[in-house]
Amino acid sequence: MVDSAKIMSDSKLYLETNELDHGSVLSQMAATIADEIRNPLAGIASTVSLLKEDLSGRIDDAKFKTIDSCIRRIDSFIEDLYLLTRPISPGFMLIELTEFVRQVVEQFFSAKNISYHFISDNEKMGAKVDMILLQNALYNILDNSVYALGQDGEIWVSVEKENTDHDSKMARITIRDTGTGMDKRVFRNLFIPFFTTKHEGRGLGLVIARNYIHFHSGTIHIESEKNKGTLVKINLPIYAGGDDAGTWKCIGS
Ligand SMILES: Nc1ncnc2c1ncn2[C@@H]1O[C@H](COP(=O)(O)OP(=O)(O)O)[C@@H](O)[C@H]1O
Ligand SMILES: [Mg+2]
Repeated sequence: MVDSAKIMSDSKLYLETNELDHGSVLSQMAATIADEIRNPLAGIASTVSLLKEDLSGRIDDAKFKTIDSCIRRIDSFIEDLYLLTRPISPGFMLIELTEFVRQVVEQFFSAKNISYHFISDNEKMGAKVDMILLQNALYNILDNSVYALGQDGEIWVSVEKENTDHDSKMARITIRDTGTGMDKRVFRNLFIPFFTTKHEGRGLGLVIARNYIHFHSGTIHIESEKNKGTLVKINLPIYAGGDDAGTWKCIGS
């Protein structure tokens, strides 16, 4: 039972050591490294393209292809560093959360032709969100669930109040899959930038999702069981009202 033991952890536990917070030393370091690599890399790329012209027909093209693909790889890594460190100014607007999540999930799955289950308590919950950032966070989490699904796997998405109190202050979005689940090693590294178990993975999906959720004063909590599946819980504050109550928007309307 050791390997399949249920591992639970609140991602908040990782925050102090792992988060690439904007303005933090780590974040600045990453930005500096990106700048320092990008300029010489541009120099290498343009020199290689001049060399290509000079040596046209006299040298095996495959060698240039290798150089080009290495340059592209470094360049996309730099892009990832910028993605992590670029300052973001969220633009919050008041929306109805259940409908928003319903539409985001529908858009996500209709493009992939995969079936899913959606549950909500149908209560209206206002939330102040940056729709692009929250959609991005949800897509990153859904992407992982889809990747982890086997042939007969299922995905369940739910939106409800965090607890049954009528005046609950938090909304809870859950995304549960019956996919591969994770072992302890993967679970411990989930929020480490660039950690991935996928051949073409970038290891940024969850780091970015967590950052975006924190922009909304929310939390993300993950539970996983190897060969059983994974549950991601996102808590977001419900907007309690104010001058702009009554102006709830839904995407697509
Ligand atoms: N729902 C899930 N089921 C199984 N493994 C997962 C799930 N979500 C995340 N993981 C693991 O966490 C790793 C990091 O995920 P992520 O940050 O999104 O980066 P990436 O998807 O590029 O690998 C994944 O490579 C995978 O091993
Ligand atoms: Mg991912």
